[in-house]
Amino acid sequence: MSISERDARSVWHPYTRHFDSPKFPVITGASGSYLHLESGEKILDAISSWWVNIHGHSHPYILEKLHEAAQEMQQVMFAGFTHPRAVDLAERIIALYGRGVSKAFFSDNGSTAVEVALKMAFQFWQNQGKRKSKLLAFRGSYHGDTFGAMSVSSRSLFNEPFWPFLFEVQFISSPIKGQDDVLTELANLYAHHGDDIAGIIVEPMVQGAGGMIFHEVDLLNAVLSYVKERSGLIIADEVMTGFGRTGKLFGSHHLLVSPDIVCLSKGLTGGMLPLGLTLAGDKVFEAFNSPDISRALLHGHSFTGNVLSTAVALASLELLLQEENLDKIRRISDMHQSFVLKVSHPLFHNVRCLGTLMALEIGDLEGSYTSPIKESLHQYFLGKNILLRPLGNTLYVLPPFSITDDELNLVYESILDLPKEFYR
Ligand SMILES: Cc1ncc(COP(=O)(O)O)c(C=O)c1O
Repeated sequence: MSISERDARSVWHPYTRHFDSPKFPVITGASGSYLHLESGEKILDAISSWWVNIHGHSHPYILEKLHEAAQEMQQVMFAGFTHPRAVDLAERIIALYGRGVSKAFFSDNGSTAVEVALKMAFQFWQNQGKRKSKLLAFRGSYHGDTFGAMSVSSRSLFNEPFWPFLFEVQFISSPIKGQDDVLTELANLYAHHGDDIAGIIVEPMVQGAGGMIFHEVDLLNAVLSYVKERSGLIIADEVMTGFGRTGKLFGSHHLLVSPDIVCLSKGLTGGMLPLGLTLAGDKVFEAFNSPDISRALLHGHSFTGNVLSTAVALASLELLLQEENLDKIRRISDMHQSFVLKVSHPLFHNVRCLGTLMALEIGDLEGSYTSPIKESLHQYFLGKNILLRPLGNTLYVLPPFSITDDELNLVYESILDLPKEFYR
Protein backbone atom coordinates (compact mmCIF):
# COMPACT_ATOMS: atom_id res chain seq x y z
CA MET A 1 0.00 0.00 0.00
CA SER A 2 1.30 3.47 -0.83
CA ILE A 3 2.05 6.08 1.82
CA SER A 4 -0.94 8.12 0.58
CA GLU A 5 -3.23 5.13 1.00
CA ARG A 6 -1.86 4.32 4.45
CA ASP A 7 -2.26 8.00 5.34
CA ALA A 8 -5.90 7.95 4.25
CA ARG A 9 -6.50 4.95 6.53
CA SER A 10 -4.85 6.24 9.69
CA VAL A 11 -4.26 9.98 9.67
CA TRP A 12 -6.72 12.73 10.57
CA HIS A 13 -5.51 15.92 8.87
CA PRO A 14 -6.08 19.56 9.86
CA TYR A 15 -8.85 21.54 8.12
CA THR A 16 -9.74 18.49 6.06
CA ARG A 17 -13.02 16.94 4.97
CA HIS A 18 -12.06 13.27 4.87
CA PHE A 19 -15.38 12.34 3.32
CA ASP A 20 -13.81 12.75 -0.14
CA SER A 21 -11.00 10.34 0.85
CA PRO A 22 -8.33 12.76 -0.30
CA LYS A 23 -4.97 11.28 -1.25
CA PHE A 24 -2.31 13.76 -0.34
CA PRO A 25 0.98 14.12 -2.19
CA VAL A 26 3.81 12.67 -0.13
CA ILE A 27 6.69 14.99 0.68
CA THR A 28 9.91 13.10 1.32
CA GLY A 29 12.32 16.00 1.59
CA ALA A 30 12.62 19.77 1.39
CA SER A 31 15.45 22.15 0.65
CA GLY A 32 15.68 25.85 -0.08
CA SER A 33 12.44 27.03 -1.65
CA TYR A 34 11.34 23.52 -2.69
CA LEU A 35 9.39 20.58 -1.33
CA HIS A 36 10.46 17.23 -2.78
CA LEU A 37 7.77 14.81 -3.84
CA GLU A 38 8.00 11.04 -3.58
CA SER A 39 7.98 11.00 -7.40
CA GLY A 40 11.20 13.02 -7.49
CA GLU A 41 9.42 16.18 -8.67
CA LYS A 42 9.88 19.44 -6.78
CA ILE A 43 7.25 21.95 -5.70
CA LEU A 44 8.09 25.63 -5.30
CA ASP A 45 6.88 26.60 -1.83
CA ALA A 46 5.46 30.07 -2.56
CA ILE A 47 3.69 30.35 0.81
CA SER A 48 6.59 29.23 3.01
CA SER A 49 4.66 26.16 4.25
CA TRP A 50 1.93 28.04 6.14
CA TRP A 51 4.12 31.16 6.44
CA VAL A 52 6.69 29.62 8.78
CA ASN A 53 9.66 28.91 6.59
CA ILE A 54 11.25 32.32 6.15
CA HIS A 55 14.76 31.20 5.11
CA GLY A 56 13.68 28.21 3.04
CA HIS A 57 13.83 24.55 4.02
CA SER A 58 16.80 22.67 5.50
CA HIS A 59 18.86 25.82 5.93
CA PRO A 60 22.40 24.55 6.63
CA TYR A 61 23.19 27.16 9.29
CA ILE A 62 19.99 26.48 11.24
CA LEU A 63 20.63 22.73 10.93
CA GLU A 64 24.17 23.19 12.20
CA LYS A 65 22.93 25.07 15.27
CA LEU A 66 20.23 22.45 15.84
CA HIS A 67 22.82 19.68 15.71
CA GLU A 68 25.13 21.59 18.05
CA ALA A 69 22.36 22.11 20.63
CA ALA A 70 21.13 18.52 20.32
CA GLN A 71 24.57 17.24 21.31
CA GLU A 72 24.33 19.19 24.60
CA MET A 73 20.70 18.73 25.65
CA GLN A 74 17.28 18.71 24.07
CA GLN A 75 14.74 19.61 26.68
CA VAL A 76 14.66 20.79 30.25
CA MET A 77 11.64 21.77 32.29
CA PHE A 78 11.38 25.52 32.37
CA ALA A 79 9.75 26.05 35.77
CA GLY A 80 12.55 26.10 38.33
CA PHE A 81 15.30 25.92 35.67
CA THR A 82 16.58 28.02 32.85
CA HIS A 83 19.14 27.53 30.05
CA PRO A 84 21.49 29.83 28.17
CA ARG A 85 19.73 29.70 24.79
CA ALA A 86 16.36 30.70 26.25
CA VAL A 87 17.99 33.68 27.96
CA ASP A 88 19.87 34.68 24.81
CA LEU A 89 16.71 34.44 22.75
CA ALA A 90 14.64 36.46 25.23
CA GLU A 91 17.33 39.18 25.34
CA ARG A 92 17.66 39.34 21.56
CA ILE A 93 13.96 39.39 20.77
CA ILE A 94 13.31 42.04 23.42
CA ALA A 95 16.09 44.23 21.98
CA LEU A 96 14.92 43.68 18.42
CA TYR A 97 11.25 44.31 19.09
CA GLY A 98 11.90 47.39 21.25
CA ARG A 99 8.72 49.42 21.89
CA GLY A 100 9.10 48.93 25.65
CA VAL A 101 8.77 45.14 25.81
CA SER A 102 10.92 43.72 28.59
CA LYS A 103 9.89 40.11 29.27
CA ALA A 104 9.47 37.03 27.09
CA PHE A 105 7.14 34.15 28.05
CA PHE A 106 7.71 30.90 26.13
CA SER A 107 5.14 28.52 24.71
CA ASP A 108 4.82 26.20 21.70
CA ASN A 109 2.93 27.77 18.79
CA GLY A 110 0.92 30.75 17.60
CA SER A 111 -2.31 29.80 19.35
CA THR A 112 -0.59 29.25 22.69
CA ALA A 113 1.25 32.58 22.32
CA VAL A 114 -2.21 34.15 21.93
CA GLU A 115 -3.68 32.19 24.86
CA VAL A 116 -0.89 33.47 27.09
CA ALA A 117 -1.46 37.04 25.85
CA LEU A 118 -5.18 36.81 26.65
CA LYS A 119 -4.50 35.45 30.12
CA MET A 120 -1.98 38.25 30.70
CA ALA A 121 -4.51 40.86 29.60
CA PHE A 122 -7.44 39.63 31.71
CA GLN A 123 -5.34 38.84 34.78
CA PHE A 124 -3.53 42.18 34.50
CA TRP A 125 -6.81 43.88 35.40
CA GLN A 126 -7.92 41.25 37.88
CA ASN A 127 -4.65 41.50 39.80
CA GLN A 128 -5.47 45.18 40.28
CA GLY A 129 -8.93 44.42 41.60
CA LYS A 130 -10.67 45.31 38.33
CA ARG A 131 -12.51 42.59 36.51
CA LYS A 132 -12.73 43.61 32.86
CA SER A 133 -14.37 40.97 30.75
CA LYS A 134 -14.47 42.40 27.23
CA LEU A 135 -11.85 42.47 24.54
CA LEU A 136 -12.07 44.24 21.22
CA ALA A 137 -11.01 42.60 17.95
CA PHE A 138 -11.42 43.33 14.26
CA ARG A 139 -14.03 41.57 12.17
CA GLY A 140 -12.34 38.99 9.97
CA SER A 141 -9.48 38.47 12.41
CA TYR A 142 -7.87 35.10 13.04
CA HIS A 143 -5.77 34.33 16.10
CA GLY A 144 -5.65 30.54 16.28
CA ASP A 145 -7.68 27.45 17.09
CA THR A 146 -7.54 27.04 20.87
CA PHE A 147 -10.54 28.29 22.83
CA GLY A 148 -9.24 31.71 23.81
CA ALA A 149 -7.77 32.27 20.36
CA MET A 150 -11.06 31.17 18.75
CA SER A 151 -12.96 33.55 21.03
CA VAL A 152 -11.04 36.57 19.73
CA SER A 153 -11.24 35.34 16.13
CA SER A 154 -14.14 36.24 13.88
CA ARG A 155 -17.08 33.91 14.21
CA SER A 156 -17.06 31.59 11.19
CA LEU A 157 -17.76 28.08 10.02
CA PHE A 158 -14.42 27.07 11.53
CA ASN A 159 -15.43 27.85 15.09
CA GLU A 160 -19.22 27.55 14.83
CA PRO A 161 -19.55 24.28 16.83
CA PHE A 162 -17.91 26.07 19.74
CA TRP A 163 -19.77 29.41 19.72
CA PRO A 164 -21.63 28.62 22.96
CA PHE A 165 -18.30 28.13 24.74
CA LEU A 166 -16.40 31.17 23.45
CA PHE A 167 -16.11 34.29 25.60
CA GLU A 168 -17.73 37.47 24.43
CA VAL A 169 -15.71 39.76 22.23
CA GLN A 170 -16.75 43.08 20.71
CA PHE A 171 -15.89 42.94 17.02
CA ILE A 172 -15.33 46.23 15.24
CA SER A 173 -14.69 47.10 11.59
CA SER A 174 -11.17 46.59 10.34
CA PRO A 175 -9.23 49.82 9.88
CA ILE A 176 -9.17 49.67 6.11
CA LYS A 177 -9.45 52.50 3.60
CA GLY A 178 -12.83 54.18 3.78
CA GLN A 179 -13.80 52.42 7.04
CA ASP A 180 -13.58 55.47 9.31
CA ASP A 181 -16.77 54.15 10.91
CA VAL A 182 -14.55 52.07 13.14
CA LEU A 183 -13.88 55.18 15.26
CA THR A 184 -17.61 55.78 15.73
CA GLU A 185 -18.07 52.10 16.63
CA LEU A 186 -15.31 52.44 19.19
CA ALA A 187 -16.85 55.59 20.70
CA ASN A 188 -20.22 53.81 21.02
CA LEU A 189 -18.66 50.78 22.63
CA TYR A 190 -16.73 52.86 25.11
CA ALA A 191 -19.86 54.88 25.89
CA HIS A 192 -21.70 51.68 26.87
CA HIS A 193 -19.01 49.29 28.11
CA GLY A 194 -15.95 51.49 28.67
CA ASP A 195 -15.26 50.22 32.20
CA ASP A 196 -15.45 46.62 31.07
CA ILE A 197 -13.00 46.78 28.15
CA ALA A 198 -9.68 45.10 28.94
CA GLY A 199 -8.03 45.99 25.62
CA ILE A 200 -7.82 45.14 21.96
CA ILE A 201 -6.11 42.37 20.00
CA VAL A 202 -4.91 43.13 16.46
CA GLU A 203 -2.85 41.59 13.70
CA PRO A 204 -0.82 44.72 13.01
CA MET A 205 -0.99 45.89 9.36
CA VAL A 206 -2.41 42.69 7.83
CA GLN A 207 -5.20 40.33 8.91
CA GLY A 208 -3.79 37.13 7.48
CA ALA A 209 -6.06 34.08 7.47
CA GLY A 210 -9.14 36.35 7.34
CA GLY A 211 -8.23 37.16 3.72
CA MET A 212 -5.02 39.20 3.76
CA ILE A 213 -6.87 42.35 4.76
CA PHE A 214 -4.46 45.31 4.67
CA HIS A 215 -4.88 47.99 7.33
CA GLU A 216 -4.63 51.69 6.69
CA VAL A 217 -1.80 52.71 8.93
CA ASP A 218 -3.27 56.07 10.08
CA LEU A 219 -6.60 54.50 10.89
CA LEU A 220 -4.97 51.63 12.78
CA ASN A 221 -2.91 54.16 14.73
CA ALA A 222 -6.09 56.11 15.50
CA VAL A 223 -7.87 52.97 16.78
CA LEU A 224 -4.94 51.93 18.94
CA SER A 225 -4.47 55.46 20.34
CA TYR A 226 -8.15 55.61 21.19
CA VAL A 227 -7.92 52.39 23.18
CA LYS A 228 -4.59 53.28 24.75
CA GLU A 229 -5.81 56.71 25.88
CA ARG A 230 -8.58 54.91 27.74
CA SER A 231 -5.95 52.65 29.33
CA GLY A 232 -6.92 49.54 27.36
CA LEU A 233 -4.13 47.04 26.73
CA ILE A 234 -2.96 46.54 23.16
CA ILE A 235 -2.13 42.99 22.10
CA ALA A 236 -0.23 42.75 18.81
CA ASP A 237 -0.59 39.28 17.34
CA GLU A 238 2.49 39.20 15.14
CA VAL A 239 2.37 35.47 14.51
CA MET A 240 2.07 36.14 10.78
CA THR A 241 3.37 39.71 10.51
CA GLY A 242 6.62 39.14 12.43
CA PHE A 243 10.12 38.58 11.10
CA GLY A 244 10.24 40.75 8.01
CA ARG A 245 6.97 39.74 6.42
CA THR A 246 5.58 43.27 6.14
CA GLY A 247 8.89 44.75 4.96
CA LYS A 248 9.82 45.85 8.48
CA LEU A 249 11.02 43.43 11.12
CA PHE A 250 7.62 43.49 12.84
CA GLY A 251 4.18 44.75 11.86
CA SER A 252 4.10 47.11 14.85
CA HIS A 253 7.23 48.83 13.58
CA HIS A 254 4.99 50.58 11.02
CA LEU A 255 2.98 52.12 13.88
CA LEU A 256 3.27 55.06 16.25
CA VAL A 257 1.41 53.27 19.03
CA SER A 258 3.29 50.53 20.85
CA PRO A 259 1.65 47.30 21.99
CA ASP A 260 1.66 46.18 25.64
CA ILE A 261 1.71 42.48 24.74
CA VAL A 262 3.08 40.79 21.60
CA CYS A 263 2.53 37.26 20.22
CA LEU A 264 5.23 35.64 18.07
CA SER A 265 5.61 32.22 16.44
CA LYS A 266 5.78 30.89 12.83
CA GLY A 267 8.90 32.64 11.39
CA LEU A 268 10.45 32.79 14.87
CA THR A 269 12.29 29.50 14.32
CA GLY A 270 12.63 29.89 10.56
CA GLY A 271 10.04 27.13 10.35
CA MET A 272 12.37 24.47 11.72
CA LEU A 273 10.62 23.70 15.02
CA PRO A 274 7.53 24.88 16.89
CA LEU A 275 7.89 27.75 19.36
CA GLY A 276 5.73 30.57 20.65
CA LEU A 277 6.69 33.71 22.53
CA THR A 278 4.53 36.26 24.29
CA LEU A 279 6.33 39.52 25.05
CA ALA A 280 5.19 42.06 27.61
CA GLY A 281 6.39 45.37 28.98
CA ASP A 282 7.03 46.33 32.60
CA LYS A 283 3.53 47.71 33.08
CA VAL A 284 2.01 44.28 32.45
CA PHE A 285 4.74 42.29 34.21
CA GLU A 286 4.60 44.41 37.36
CA ALA A 287 0.89 43.64 37.80
CA PHE A 288 1.94 39.98 38.26
CA ASN A 289 5.04 40.69 40.32
CA SER A 290 3.80 39.97 43.82
CA PRO A 291 4.60 37.71 46.80
CA ASP A 292 1.07 36.38 46.38
CA ILE A 293 1.26 33.26 44.14
CA SER A 294 -2.33 33.71 43.05
CA ARG A 295 -1.22 36.86 41.22
CA ALA A 296 1.43 34.99 39.23
CA LEU A 297 0.80 33.81 35.67
CA LEU A 298 0.09 30.17 36.47
CA HIS A 299 0.50 28.89 32.95
CA GLY A 300 3.00 26.59 31.26
CA HIS A 301 3.50 23.70 28.84
CA SER A 302 5.74 20.62 29.05
CA PHE A 303 7.87 21.92 26.19
CA THR A 304 7.96 25.55 27.33
CA GLY A 305 11.35 26.99 26.34
CA ASN A 306 12.43 23.82 24.52
CA VAL A 307 16.20 23.88 24.03
CA LEU A 308 16.19 22.83 20.37
CA SER A 309 13.47 25.31 19.46
CA THR A 310 15.37 28.14 21.12
CA ALA A 311 18.58 27.08 19.34
CA VAL A 312 16.97 27.24 15.90
CA ALA A 313 15.20 30.50 16.76
CA LEU A 314 18.56 32.07 17.64
CA ALA A 315 20.05 30.82 14.36
CA SER A 316 17.06 32.07 12.38
CA LEU A 317 17.29 35.52 14.00
CA GLU A 318 20.98 35.71 13.16
CA LEU A 319 20.19 34.97 9.52
CA LEU A 320 17.27 37.38 9.49
CA LEU A 321 19.46 40.31 10.48
CA GLN A 322 22.23 39.69 7.95
CA GLU A 323 22.43 42.43 5.33
CA GLU A 324 22.23 39.81 2.61
CA ASN A 325 18.90 38.62 3.99
CA LEU A 326 17.51 42.13 4.44
CA ASP A 327 18.40 42.66 0.77
CA LYS A 328 16.39 39.57 -0.13
CA ILE A 329 13.38 40.98 1.73
CA ARG A 330 13.78 44.30 -0.13
CA ARG A 331 14.15 42.48 -3.45
CA ILE A 332 10.97 40.44 -2.98
CA SER A 333 9.12 43.56 -1.81
CA ASP A 334 10.29 45.48 -4.90
CA MET A 335 9.28 42.65 -7.23
CA HIS A 336 5.82 42.45 -5.63
CA GLN A 337 5.52 46.22 -5.97
CA SER A 338 6.33 46.18 -9.69
CA PHE A 339 3.95 43.27 -10.26
CA VAL A 340 1.16 45.12 -8.45
CA LEU A 341 1.83 48.33 -10.41
CA LYS A 342 1.95 46.70 -13.80
CA VAL A 343 -0.67 43.97 -13.49
CA SER A 344 -3.74 44.93 -15.39
CA HIS A 345 -6.19 42.11 -15.47
CA PRO A 346 -9.93 42.75 -15.52
CA LEU A 347 -10.60 39.78 -13.26
CA PHE A 348 -8.06 40.45 -10.55
CA HIS A 349 -9.26 42.85 -7.90
CA ASN A 350 -7.57 44.65 -5.09
CA VAL A 351 -4.07 43.60 -6.15
CA ARG A 352 -1.92 44.70 -3.24
CA CYS A 353 1.37 44.10 -1.50
CA LEU A 354 3.20 44.90 1.67
CA GLY A 355 6.74 43.69 2.19
CA THR A 356 7.06 40.08 1.06
CA LEU A 357 3.29 39.55 0.88
CA MET A 358 1.33 40.01 -2.34
CA ALA A 359 -2.41 39.30 -2.52
CA LEU A 360 -5.32 39.70 -4.88
CA GLU A 361 -8.93 38.63 -5.23
CA ILE A 362 -9.97 36.61 -8.24
CA GLY A 363 -13.12 37.57 -10.13
CA ASP A 364 -16.33 38.11 -8.25
CA LEU A 365 -16.28 34.58 -7.00
CA GLU A 366 -17.80 33.71 -3.72
CA GLY A 367 -15.24 34.93 -1.25
CA SER A 368 -15.63 32.44 1.56
CA TYR A 369 -12.71 30.34 2.73
CA THR A 370 -14.63 27.19 1.99
CA SER A 371 -15.53 28.19 -1.56
CA PRO A 372 -14.67 25.27 -3.91
CA ILE A 373 -12.55 27.61 -6.02
CA LYS A 374 -9.95 27.47 -3.29
CA GLU A 375 -9.28 23.78 -3.86
CA SER A 376 -9.33 24.00 -7.66
CA LEU A 377 -6.86 26.88 -7.58
CA HIS A 378 -4.64 24.94 -5.21
CA GLN A 379 -4.71 21.96 -7.58
CA TYR A 380 -4.11 24.16 -10.63
CA PHE A 381 -0.91 25.57 -9.08
CA LEU A 382 0.20 22.15 -7.82
CA GLY A 383 -0.12 21.01 -11.42
CA LYS A 384 2.47 23.68 -12.20
CA ASN A 385 4.61 22.49 -9.29
CA ILE A 386 3.90 25.62 -7.26
CA LEU A 387 2.45 25.61 -3.75
CA LEU A 388 -0.18 28.36 -3.42
CA ARG A 389 -3.15 27.77 -1.13
CA PRO A 390 -5.72 30.54 -1.58
CA LEU A 391 -8.00 31.75 1.20
CA GLY A 392 -11.32 31.47 -0.63
CA ASN A 393 -10.87 33.63 -3.73
CA THR A 394 -7.98 35.51 -2.14
CA LEU A 395 -4.80 34.38 -3.77
CA TYR A 396 -1.58 35.36 -2.05
CA VAL A 397 2.15 34.83 -2.42
CA LEU A 398 4.26 34.82 0.75
CA PRO A 399 7.51 33.15 -0.28
CA PRO A 400 10.58 32.20 1.71
CA PHE A 401 13.28 34.86 1.44
CA SER A 402 15.37 32.26 -0.42
CA ILE A 403 13.18 32.49 -3.53
CA THR A 404 15.07 33.72 -6.61
CA ASP A 405 13.86 36.37 -9.06
CA ASP A 406 13.28 33.70 -11.71
CA GLU A 407 11.27 31.55 -9.34
CA LEU A 408 9.15 34.49 -8.23
CA ASN A 409 8.57 35.49 -11.85
CA LEU A 410 7.41 31.94 -12.50
CA VAL A 411 4.84 32.31 -9.73
CA TYR A 412 3.59 35.63 -11.19
CA GLU A 413 3.37 34.05 -14.66
CA SER A 414 1.39 31.10 -13.37
CA ILE A 415 -1.07 33.55 -11.79
CA LEU A 416 -1.36 35.60 -14.98
CA ASP A 417 -1.88 32.40 -16.98
CA LEU A 418 -4.87 31.29 -14.91
CA PRO A 419 -7.31 29.74 -17.36
CA LYS A 420 -10.68 31.35 -17.94
CA GLU A 421 -12.55 28.54 -16.17
CA PHE A 422 -11.53 30.14 -12.89
CA TYR A 423 -13.49 33.29 -13.63
CA ARG A 424 -17.19 33.95 -13.57
C1 LIG B 1 -2.17 35.97 13.26
C2 LIG B 1 -2.18 34.55 13.72
N1 LIG B 1 -2.26 34.29 15.03
C3 LIG B 1 -2.23 33.03 15.49
C4 LIG B 1 -2.15 31.96 14.64
C5 LIG B 1 -2.14 30.56 15.17
O1 LIG B 1 -0.88 30.01 15.05
P1 LIG B 1 -0.69 28.41 15.12
O2 LIG B 1 -1.25 27.89 13.84
O3 LIG B 1 0.78 28.22 15.26
O4 LIG B 1 -1.44 27.94 16.32
C6 LIG B 1 -2.05 32.19 13.26
C7 LIG B 1 -1.95 31.07 12.31
O5 LIG B 1 -2.12 31.20 11.13
C8 LIG B 1 -2.07 33.53 12.78
O6 LIG B 1 -2.00 33.81 11.48
